[in-house]
Amino acid sequence: MSIQELEATVAALTAPGKGILAADESFGTIEKRFRKINVPSTEENRRSYREMLFSTPGLGEFIGGVILFDETLRQRGSDGTPIPQLLRAQGIVPGIKVDKGTVPLPNFPDEVVTQGLDGLAERLAEYRYLGARFAKWRAVLRIGAGMPSRRCITENANALARYAAICQAQGLVPIVEPEVLIDGDHSFASAAQVTEDVLHQVFHALHEQRVTLELMLLKPSMVVPGADSGESVSAEAVASATLACLRRAVPAAVPGIFFLSGGQGNEEATAHLNAINVQAGQAGQAPWVLSFSYARALQAPALEAWRGEAANREAAQRVLHQRARLNSLARQGRYSAALEQ
Ligand code: 13P
Repeated sequence: MSIQELEATVAALTAPGKGILAADESFGTIEKRFRKINVPSTEENRRSYREMLFSTPGLGEFIGGVILFDETLRQRGSDGTPIPQLLRAQGIVPGIKVDKGTVPLPNFPDEVVTQGLDGLAERLAEYRYLGARFAKWRAVLRIGAGMPSRRCITENANALARYAAICQAQGLVPIVEPEVLIDGDHSFASAAQVTEDVLHQVFHALHEQRVTLELMLLKPSMVVPGADSGESVSAEAVASATLACLRRAVPAAVPGIFFLSGGQGNEEATAHLNAINVQAGQAGQAPWVLSFSYARALQAPALEAWRGEAANREAAQRVLHQRARLNSLARQGRYSAALEQ
């Protein structure tokens, strides 16, 4: 598989002003999102919702890649155009979620490991044939009493690294996503310590499995206090804690870091990304592109505006366009809350 092709994918995804739209919700997750707007999760509803998102006029100005779910990669738009082609027409690179979700880690209550390595090379070959050029695998780490355990961190890091190595061998750029959950009452300091530890283990495993760091992307969580901690910290504090973790654990060879939104509010996720880029602009703060790969923080207002009605299509596209534009500004450190009006 040619290195030039992987390089071209990295270049397209890290292009100035661009971020990634994650639209790879599994059947269970999209059903949960649709339930909130009273829309049944049928194949046709999922298709028409996602086609609405992807055909937003001008989306390609701010979005370099979209992460799809298996079903969507195989679907067609209402005029018969395959979805990957529809994205290409917007200048957007199609990507694909390739993990098969989490399963309990036996003997470690409340901890999970991500599955999907068996047969992965064959699945990737097909995804590539269908038009995907990058992939995503999400590991989930929970903070709590005795958690995450060393075993849970190591198992997930090893799986992420093996996935990444298989992706590169098959000609897809791997997005490595170790998500430290916001759920729980843990402190800001503990989120910082766990995130740094997890990233160290992930990069150790990537090194051991000979993954080419220049040809992968990282999708981490930002360092924020637990959702039930009662702690409130400024965007500047989130930015400096997040950048400190990344500087300590992520090699400079990694071309891009694309944050997940992980349950932050829409505007909050944008403000945090902006603060990160403002600080990163100062000398010696960051060698990587720092951008977004949001699902909820990009889609939530569009889903709310759409509500399953064809008549709401343009209104929904307008709000998606707005969030994509504002996150693109944040990715350049040029956002301010006043632009929300
Ligand atoms: P959120 O931005 O909603 O956290 O989702 C990102 C994602 O792709 C999770 O795997």
